[in-house]
Amino acid sequence: MRILLFTGKGGVGKSTLAAATACASAAAGHRTLVLSTDAAHSLADALDAPATSEPSEVTQDLWIQHVDAQDRLERSWADIQRYLRGVLDVAGVDPVAAEELTVIPGAEEVLALLEVRAQARSGEWDVLVVDCAPTAETLRLLALPEALGWYMTRVLPVQRRVVKALKPVLTRAAGVPMPEDSVFDAVERLHADLDDVRAVLTGPTTSVRLVLTPESVVLAEARRAYTFLTLFGYAVDMAIVNRVFPADGADAWRRTWVTAQERHLEDAADSFAGLELRTSIYRATEPVGREELLDLAATVYDGIDPIAPGASVPPMSVSTTSAGLVLSLPLPLAAQDDVGLVRKGDDLIVSIGSYRRLLTLPSGLARHRVAGARVRDGQLQVRFTEPDAQSELSEEAL
Ligand SMILES: Nc1ncnc2c1ncn2[C@@H]1O[C@H](COP(=O)(O)OP(=O)(O)OP(=O)(O)O)[C@@H](O)[C@H]1O
Ligand SMILES: [Mg+2]
Repeated sequence: MRILLFTGKGGVGKSTLAAATACASAAAGHRTLVLSTDAAHSLADALDAPATSEPSEVTQDLWIQHVDAQDRLERSWADIQRYLRGVLDVAGVDPVAAEELTVIPGAEEVLALLEVRAQARSGEWDVLVVDCAPTAETLRLLALPEALGWYMTRVLPVQRRVVKALKPVLTRAAGVPMPEDSVFDAVERLHADLDDVRAVLTGPTTSVRLVLTPESVVLAEARRAYTFLTLFGYAVDMAIVNRVFPADGADAWRRTWVTAQERHLEDAADSFAGLELRTSIYRATEPVGREELLDLAATVYDGIDPIAPGASVPPMSVSTTSAGLVLSLPLPLAAQDDVGLVRKGDDLIVSIGSYRRLLTLPSGLARHRVAGARVRDGQLQVRFTEPDAQSELSEEAL
């Protein structure tokens, strides 16, 4: 089972390349599902085939699905919503407004991920190709399972105990219904599901492919995405530069573009050194339909297997050195000044810009003290030393 996620800035060709890759995969005899988590229906447009919330067959070995998050929302969140509606009802909120208020922001995207996981675990497919939303949304989304998981393992059990203790008092006093066990159960189920989403998406058979065009703004976004995706433990194995102008037979106008693009292509090669870097020509017409897409895939993946995993940076590791234990977290393209690090109890909080990852330290390290940290060659290295009596600091800013 192989999973390929396609992401990149808006309009760069994510859906087109996801569809082309799926066509090539199916043509090679792999049972392939291409699935869109994006509200726009461009995947169906590229394949020129209708998509619904259930997988439907396009051609031999190729299936398409457009995740209908709203539908799953209804099913999975029913318990939680019912509770919230009850609370709002007691508070005197009009039922129609209550309905609106209980739609949890961001929940739709989460449910799209749950569908990806359900399909990955179904045993139906050899290859799952996911056409993701534009970069920023995808990053927020891919960071979510872990963040929610962190919240749920720490906060939820406490809340549950508190609620149990307060329930008789509060229910009598204010008339506010306290959450039933079924609400907590629903939240816990969701937590387990999200844990599994993360396991599937950061597993050894999942890769992320960055799609970009040879323009400076787009490249800058792709570079950031590479750093953040790696921060959150996702393996990026390829960057595909789409819409490259062919150089031959160019007139003066196009030659100017070709020259500018060549510069950006060089920058892309530097940025994604170590990854497979592929290019795709700007075609005279929109690549739509299976034939066109197969042709596109043949040029992009010239000489390589479209679905085989390419090289990617190694995951986080802990090693023993003469200076103590060192935790290494790859952060390609990040500079020392970009990275923030805070130790909080058993957690290490790594931040870059507005993205933060809460890393629970491996049990071997939890009792150790942070002795130093640096970012070197695209890697965050945190050095730990044996705990000693004077260093009972619970929080250290570095
Ligand atoms: N190599 C190419 N040559 C010519 N046209 C292309 C190429 N790649 C993509 N297109 C066209 O560009 C448009 C945008 O492509 P696509 O829908 O795949 O982008 P996207 O990244 O999925 O966009 P969105 O962010 O809106 O989901 C489409 O009309 C598509 O047919
Ligand atoms: Mg798209």
